[in-house]
Amino acid sequence: MSAPSTTTPETGTGVFSKTRARISERTLRTDRWWVPPLVTVLGLGAFVIYATVRAFVRTAYWDDRYHYLSPFYSPCVSTSCEPDAQHFGAWFGALPSFIPLGFLVLPFLLGFRLTCYYYRKAYYRAVWFSPPACAVAEPHAKYTGETRLPLIIQNAHRYFFYVAVVVSVINTYDAIAAFHPRSGGFGFGLGNIVLLVNVILLWAYTLSCHSCRHIAGGRLKNFSAHPTRYWFWTQVSKLNTRHMALAWTTLGTLVLTDFYVMLVASKTISDLRFIN
Ligand code: FES
Repeated sequence: MSAPSTTTPETGTGVFSKTRARISERTLRTDRWWVPPLVTVLGLGAFVIYATVRAFVRTAYWDDRYHYLSPFYSPCVSTSCEPDAQHFGAWFGALPSFIPLGFLVLPFLLGFRLTCYYYRKAYYRAVWFSPPACAVAEPHAKYTGETRLPLIIQNAHRYFFYVAVVVSVINTYDAIAAFHPRSGGFGFGLGNIVLLVNVILLWAYTLSCHSCRHIAGGRLKNFSAHPTRYWFWTQVSKLNTRHMALAWTTLGTLVLTDFYVMLVASKTISDLRFIN
């Protein structure tokens, strides 16, 4: 391997500032460090495209026979929604087609994910190249961190967390409501399992949040004086170790749940019914 050049680049700022080692190559890494950022950008890009299309199409988001509601349309609180899909009533009149029916929570859910500590790492590397990987210099001349707009908004994560808890409660209500099909009584099909698994994983992702961990046990000087908070903090900490896996799994289950509801609601497939 040839010796790295020690020429000082022109910029003189960022990783090329005077106080940094004089290495002009962006990286000396010879492994395929670019694979994880590439996979990240492909995964996030696919989700964003799918979710955007589905949020706007307004079709096959509600199955009237089994009362399955897509998570992308919950809560549906306008008169543009199917009447029985309005689990919490109609708070708004008809919405123009450029506003998604789930408009009330979609910005908050987007904000929750965008400001998530794990997703920050993922898209700072894959999209922002800041930096693209360990020991790979970023292309930006300056680093201002999260001290000014737009990145200072990242500090609002804890507030998005509170909204995400409310949304998880709403999704739980939807999953329970789906056990009461149009025919009456108790019903149970594959769609109920799909909705239930999705909501359980959403709770796991939400509760594994770093902000939740801080709310549970942060600023406590003496755990033994707060046994309940200590217990909760311990459980959240266990979940927190799987936060990255849950972040990706829940993106997948959100898409799968919406996709399954779409197939059943559009009568492309029949729901596999076990009871009623
Ligand atoms: Fe990921 Fe809060 S840190 S959701």
